[in-house]
Amino acid sequence: MKVLLGVTGSIAAYKSVAIARLLTKSGHEVKTILTRGGKNFISSLSISNLTVNDVFTEDDFWLPNQKVPLHIELARWPDIVVVAPATMHFLGKLAHGLADDLLTSTIAAIDKPVLLAPAMHTEMWDSRVLQDNVTRLKIFGYEFIGPYEGELSSGDRGIGRMAEPEDIIERVIQLGNTERILRGKKVVITYGGTEEEIDDVRVITNKSSGKMGISLSRRAKELGAHVIAVVGRVEVQPLYYDEIYYAKSVDTLSMTLEEIVPNADVLIMAAAVSDFKPVGRMEGKVKRGENLIVEFEPTEDILKKLSKNKKPDQIFVGFALESKNLLENAIKKMKEKGVDMIVANYATAMGNDFISGYILTREGEKIPIETLTKSELSIILFDKIAEKIGQR
Ligand SMILES: Cc1cc2nc3c(=O)[nH]c(=O)nc-3n(C[C@H](O)[C@H](O)[C@H](O)COP(=O)(O)O)c2cc1C
Repeated sequence: MKVLLGVTGSIAAYKSVAIARLLTKSGHEVKTILTRGGKNFISSLSISNLTVNDVFTEDDFWLPNQKVPLHIELARWPDIVVVAPATMHFLGKLAHGLADDLLTSTIAAIDKPVLLAPAMHTEMWDSRVLQDNVTRLKIFGYEFIGPYEGELSSGDRGIGRMAEPEDIIERVIQLGNTERILRGKKVVITYGGTEEEIDDVRVITNKSSGKMGISLSRRAKELGAHVIAVVGRVEVQPLYYDEIYYAKSVDTLSMTLEEIVPNADVLIMAAAVSDFKPVGRMEGKVKRGENLIVEFEPTEDILKKLSKNKKPDQIFVGFALESKNLLENAIKKMKEKGVDMIVANYATAMGNDFISGYILTREGEKIPIETLTKSELSIILFDKIAEKIGQR
């Protein structure tokens, strides 16, 4: 595995030497970027000797006559980036898109998992601005390990101690071991809300934003999949796809999926599909006046219909949003719809960056999701999907 190690200016930087050494000893390739701060704590010489590989500093960023800018070349190289230790200053820059040095510019251009291992004093970790930046970064899909409670460099005890090198390496290998798992697999991901026309100008829709679909697509691409996005009404820009279809009404969505799902390996229905549509569409723009009565009829259950022709090696995942009896209703839906897994979640997930509920599998597993970012959920869900693919 190719690991790009970023080292920023914390006293915990001495532990990054152990990370570089252990990764190299286990056969991984490690290139290192030392920030201006990081260089004050460890030397390029010691890291380059241990990794037998390149170590870059700020001076390299500004060298003239580079054919491809160094940060672009470095961004194309690794399977994973790990920044250990990650300072408050670095996290702040990353959270706000400030790419004024080699490490932040490289990460800005990367499409691989990025693991961050913060290290700082408890007072810094507890500060509102830092916590706000950590939340932002999690929403953007950055992974975190630690910090943990323990002895700090000042001799105090508290939260802020960087995770231990062995634990960081274990997580690096888990996150970076991506490419192979879904390589060559076609993953169809539907997301956003549906829209049903009432008259020429009005629609009935729901609060789905499409954020879940973007996080799922990102993870699927990290795992090497060919991602086919089927997008309804969204509040976010669709990203991380190889092919894209737009399908706003339930009928269009149904027709689109009927065409593409037979050739897919995985289908994830994260779209919030309307359960009802107006009976007939009114002509023109209905004028203001008396109370307007619109009659609705049930829409077809797309997932149930698709499941009837599901091939044994295909994996179908549904989402079930319930306002009461979450587990009971979601299990019932999983059986009725004939899917392999269902993500049972509450209405609070709609349009939100966080999600709570359960991942349920047909084999009876019940994995609780306790206020995870949609990126974190995507990692767990694809781990399960990969496990199922491996069993077939
Ligand atoms: C002795 C010393 C120890 C430091 N330890 C930390 C630390 O553990 N965590 C942190 O966030 N900042 C720490 N700092 C502050 C950072 O080094 C400083 O914010 C620097 O600008 C970080 O730059 P960088 O993130 O680009 O490496 C420390 C500074 C000094 C002088």
